[in-house]
Amino acid sequence: MGSYRHIEVEPLTPTIGATIRGANLSQLSDDVFEEIHAAWLDHLVLFFRDQELTPESHLDFGRRLGELHIHPAAPYSHGYRELMTIHTDSRSHRNNGNGWHSDVSADVEPPMSSILHIESIPSHGGDTLFANMYAAYEALSAPMRDLLDTLSARHESDYTGQYGDHKPQREFPRAIHPVIRTHPETGRKALFVNAGFTKRIIELAREESDGLLRMLFEHVKDPNFQCRFQWDVNSVAMWDNRCVQHMAVWDYYPESRSGHRVTVKGDRPFH
Ligand code: SIN
Repeated sequence: MGSYRHIEVEPLTPTIGATIRGANLSQLSDDVFEEIHAAWLDHLVLFFRDQELTPESHLDFGRRLGELHIHPAAPYSHGYRELMTIHTDSRSHRNNGNGWHSDVSADVEPPMSSILHIESIPSHGGDTLFANMYAAYEALSAPMRDLLDTLSARHESDYTGQYGDHKPQREFPRAIHPVIRTHPETGRKALFVNAGFTKRIIELAREESDGLLRMLFEHVKDPNFQCRFQWDVNSVAMWDNRCVQHMAVWDYYPESRSGHRVTVKGDRPFH
């Protein structure tokens, strides 16, 4: 774990998640950004409170990490296609991210990071859960890890009907990725199949693939790999899609919850 001169880093659990104090995301010096980046690689998802981000400062913070990603289908706000709208109310049929997933893993180059700013919250609930996919990989037996290391899986997206009459921005992506990927910055191995997008393990028979994916989708739900974040207005979470899955709990119907997500492009997963 790193040592920090400019920020305070308070872990949520020993496995995943940390709250950062002493950083204003709208006005970051290079020194502070470097420490945030180091803490992010160590803790996988970072939480910041009391961040009054404008659309522009939110987008600028995302650009510190890399080129911004455009969601295939979700509505966007303030005329910026890179500023995804997160909104659920009493007329919603679903919420964003209600089910374990890694954002848009069906892209050939899936997003590296997502940065979510929450602007209105229900009176109770609306938490988000995050799970550490290095820990999920490391908790498997050695023979299972050896098998998974040789496999690849098809990820598919289908956003039909998910965003009302909003017209999709591009074709729904699909891709084949290794089941276990090596994180390009840390060099650590992480489980990279998720219930939201992964449909089939290519090298196995259909029944074998279904059984193995079912087991892995259950495995990632182990609370030992997780943290749970309770949002306030102006909280920000920044997670690493290369080694984290998340799910947003929709337990607040018919109340509303809204915010915006900026997503940063990643590279092609490799073994
Ligand atoms: C998502 O990006 O999957 C939504 C997460 C959330 O609303 O907490």
